[in-house]
Order: sequence, then structure tokens, then C-alpha cells
Amino acid sequence: MTVDANLGGSAEAVSASELAEIGLRYEVDGAIATITLDRPDKRNAQTFATWSALARIGEHIPDQVRIVVVKGEGPSFSAGIDLRMFTPEGVPGQGSFVSAASLGETTFERRIADAQRGFLWLRRPDIVSIAAVHGHAIGAGFQLALACDLRVVAEDVKFCMKEPALGLVPDLTGTKPLVELVGLPRAIELCLTARVVGAEEAVRLGLAELAVPAGELAQAVQDLAGALLATDRGAATATKRLLQGALGRSLEEQAIAERREQIVRIRTLFASG
Ligand code: ACO
Repeated sequence: MTVDANLGGSAEAVSASELAEIGLRYEVDGAIATITLDRPDKRNAQTFATWSALARIGEHIPDQVRIVVVKGEGPSFSAGIDLRMFTPEGVPGQGSFVSAASLGETTFERRIADAQRGFLWLRRPDIVSIAAVHGHAIGAGFQLALACDLRVVAEDVKFCMKEPALGLVPDLTGTKPLVELVGLPRAIELCLTARVVGAEEAVRLGLAELAVPAGELAQAVQDLAGALLATDRGAATATKRLLQGALGRSLEEQAIAERREQIVRIRTLFASG
């Protein structure tokens, strides 16, 4: 069954027509939610409205959803930020960097934090997010893929962190996962050269879990989602939370965290009465 998005009817909800205007689709089918960047004629370029809608989708994800798939319609996953943001006219109703440059520090920082909210929820422990990436994933497109837990890529994928080449920094939460995946020296090299990484290298560097022919991308993602869903939700959530915390803890601290999560699991599974 496909339930299209009227996300609960609250004031914050994003209607399907609003999403269509922004260039997004959102569908829930059982335990799997699919978010599709859907502005193929503009290579799924992203705006502040995209990020705000992503954040609101995250806030209203139904409880039954365990997997979130993020994909792109048309020839590219996403060509990054809408380049109109760099013009004085900007994106209608959303301004531009030219007008943002004169914002006060607090307002400016809040604006960027609002954009980042669209990406951060994809790491929630109770869901697993999968980016299905084909064609160009440039700048904000690359960062959206990095915001997901897992990346399955088509053989035509082209990752590129373009921001430094445009005088900017990647600020849509992509720098931390990039460093964690490929290591600091490679992250510096990729960002500061803005070179393109293809499918084979992406898998080799750990940027993608799997590369498949373009025609097999949807099936590969579906197969992965099925395998992930075979695991008990409580165990999956606790294990993801444990793994996410591992890099920030010492071995001893991690051992404590393992004990605490396991006690909850064993009590949940075996406590009688
Ligand atoms: N913002 C707005 N419009 C875009 C963007 C974008 N980021 N990318 C592509 N488009 C539009 C083009 O202007 C064009 O529109 P038109 O048909 O009205 O002229 C349409 O999408 C198709 O683009 P083409 O360039 O013709 O498509 P092609 O397949 O040849 O190239 C590519 C695709 C390589 C992605 C190219 O469009 C491109 O380089 N885009 C810009 C990438 C970029 O610099 N993004 C910013 C990164 S930094 C950041 O995200 C923060």
C-alpha cells in the first residue's frame, strides 16, 4: 500500500501538492518511506524549501517506518544547491546568499541550522536511511547522500564536493561523515580539489556500500531494505545507537555502553511478568 503525504494534517504538515511545488515526493509503504528529489529538469537542485520540507518530513515520519530511502528522479541524484542562490535575485520567496550576507550573526547561524535540520534526522537510531545515488551528486547532493546511514550507488554515479571550489565550505552536515568514511587526508583531497569520484572508487573508499548497474539500483535498495527489516527493531535501534557512539568513546566506555544496551535487550526478551 502506498500512503502519500499528508503528514498528519498538523499546521507543520507538508501536503503532497506543497512537496510537488518544492520538487519532492514522499511515500510511505509499510515500514519503508521513500523521499524522491523530483525536479529532474533542474537536476534536482536543492533550495531552502527543500531542506525545510525534509526537516518536516523527518518530524512527521510515522512510527511504523524503519527504513528511509532517499533518491533522485531523472538523470542526476542532485546537482547541489540551486545556483540561483548565488545571484542577487535568488530563489523567489527564499532570498539568496547575496541578501543573506548582510544578516546578523545569530539570524544567519539560525538560518543555516534550519537547513541542517533537513539532514540530521536521517541519522536517528530508530531508522536506517539509505541513499540510492545515481548520476551527479554534487555539493548539497553529495552531502545529502552522506547524511544517510548507507549509500547504494549506480555505476554512473559522480560524487563531487564542489563547495570549496565556489569559495564556500560544505555546511550541510557532510564534513563529519566524509572524514569518518574516507579519513582526514582523503577528505581534504576530495574537498579541496572538488574532483569527481565514480562508483568503483566510491566503494573502495567506503563512500558507498555497493555499486550496481543503473537499471538494478532500485532492486538493490529494495533487497537491502528487506535484509535490514529482517532484524528485530529494538535490537536494530540499540545496535545502531551503540555503533554511532563508538567513535566518540574509549574502549572502556564503549564496553559500559554495550553492557547497558544488552541489559535492556535481555530484560525485554526474557524477563517474565
Ligand atoms: N541549480 C540550478 N539549476 C541547475 C543546477 C543547479 N545546481 N544544476 C543544473 N541546473 C539546471 C541547468 O541550469 C539546466 O537548466 P535549463 O534546462 O533551464 O537550462 C538544467 O538543470 C540541466 O542542466 P545541464 O547543465 O544542461 O545538465 P547536464 O546533464 O549537462 O549537466 C551537471 C549536469 C553536471 C550537474 C550540471 O548541470 C552542473 O554542473 N550543475 C551545477 C552543479 C553545481 O555547481 N552545484 C552547486 C554545488 S555547491 C553546493 O551544492 C552548496
